[in-house]
Amino acid sequence: MQENKRGQWGSSFGFLMASIGSAIGLGNLWGFPYKMGSSGGFAFLVIYLILVLLAGIPLMMAEFSLGRKTGTGVGAYAKLSEKYKVIGWMAAFCPFLILSFYAVLAGMTLRYCLGFLVQIVGFDGFSGQGSGFFGFLLYDTKAMVLFLALAMAITMIIVMGGVQGGIEKFSKAVMPALGVILIGIIIFVATQEGAADGYKFMFKPDFTIFADPSSFFGVLKTAAGQMFFSLSLAMGINITFGSYLSKEKNLQKNAVIVPFSDTIFALLAGMMIMPACSAFGVDYGAGPGLLFASMQKVFLDGMGGMVGNVVGFLFYFLVFIAAITSSIALLEVCTASVVDRQLAKGKDPNRKKISLIFAIAIFIVGLPTAMDALGSGGAALKAPFELLGLEAGGAGYAMWNDCWLDFYDMITEGVLMPLGALLMSLLLGWKLPKLVQEECEEGGHTFKFAGYFKVAYRIIIPIIMVIVLYTQIQAFFNL
Ligand code: TRP
Repeated sequence: MQENKRGQWGSSFGFLMASIGSAIGLGNLWGFPYKMGSSGGFAFLVIYLILVLLAGIPLMMAEFSLGRKTGTGVGAYAKLSEKYKVIGWMAAFCPFLILSFYAVLAGMTLRYCLGFLVQIVGFDGFSGQGSGFFGFLLYDTKAMVLFLALAMAITMIIVMGGVQGGIEKFSKAVMPALGVILIGIIIFVATQEGAADGYKFMFKPDFTIFADPSSFFGVLKTAAGQMFFSLSLAMGINITFGSYLSKEKNLQKNAVIVPFSDTIFALLAGMMIMPACSAFGVDYGAGPGLLFASMQKVFLDGMGGMVGNVVGFLFYFLVFIAAITSSIALLEVCTASVVDRQLAKGKDPNRKKISLIFAIAIFIVGLPTAMDALGSGGAALKAPFELLGLEAGGAGYAMWNDCWLDFYDMITEGVLMPLGALLMSLLLGWKLPKLVQEECEEGGHTFKFAGYFKVAYRIIIPIIMVIVLYTQIQAFFNL
């Protein structure tokens, strides 16, 4: 009976599409290219890929297992033992904070989408700013807040529809379409003069960034944060998804397909943006505005005219939908954590009310990100470094005090997620060493690479996480 209240995936395909849909989003299209751009290109890419293989896949498998085993979302830890409850709370807090800035960015993609739509019918969609629109939009506080509100409202309405009706329908068509348009733009960009440098930046072995050994740890930390974010790890989302998965499905296979697809999309985004930067003269290290700045050049200056408007519209429309599938998953985790708790207490939860309260709270927490112009200075709201009377972080990878987004990022990607992953690995490696294997063997599937996974949970992942946490703490105290 409880199952019915919580819902189950209609099909394996639906599960896969929803988890891929939640994984693929702004993390891939917006986050990955800009972090690669400011953290050494090839060097970042290599570290990222290694991290996904060594840590990302085992962690995803662990989360699917935990969810299916316990039949719950972030409450999984509490179900195993009261002692582990705090890991669940940490995991539940991350989606909350992440969604608060994610929705700001989703709102921005909606703004660009509408901008191109308006241009199609013959008006100026970018307030006379053309390809420099990004810098303008950041200071248009009213628009930023309005689009944040819109993104949150759309997310909330879908979540209120429940698991099946809401998420599944939405996810199936969008990812393939997004893949197609990415490839189309990649081909266009490839024909532009100067594109070759972008590929070199990504794929030509170059570790000059490590000349200073401390920057190795900086890149590792950034890449690890990006991995958590992009694979939606350590925040209960995959636990929740796993709990909706029936026992005969092959967990291990899914835990490979999802990171694999996610990484393909990140690479596609990189192969679209890096050459666009070199062809159109955008600095790889431009920071969080990189996607918007480079694509604006491609659509308005490169393609130009009606073609640029139509492709720009389609692109941002799909990116917006991809962002929304992620947002609904984020809000879903928050909502489900409360729904599950109330069910456990024998209450009859009001899903709609719970979603509404979270949506409003997240909107409010998101306001600083919408109002500080990403730390460009002199905006409606001061960025953390301005409040502290410090210099802006400047070039290189983000510092926690550069802007509110980076501050939220530091708390989640930088601290809570690595810490959650560390505790989960230790738990599954040492205390409950059979859990993942048994869960993966359900339904008669064989557990492959057992030896590796054992070492991964016990030693490899904990070591990586400790290094990441240490680097983060060091960066924090150096201000
Ligand atoms: N992985 C998503 C992306 O790349 C973002 C994300 C982070 C997310 N945490 C999540 C999505 C939790 C859904 C659920 O854009």
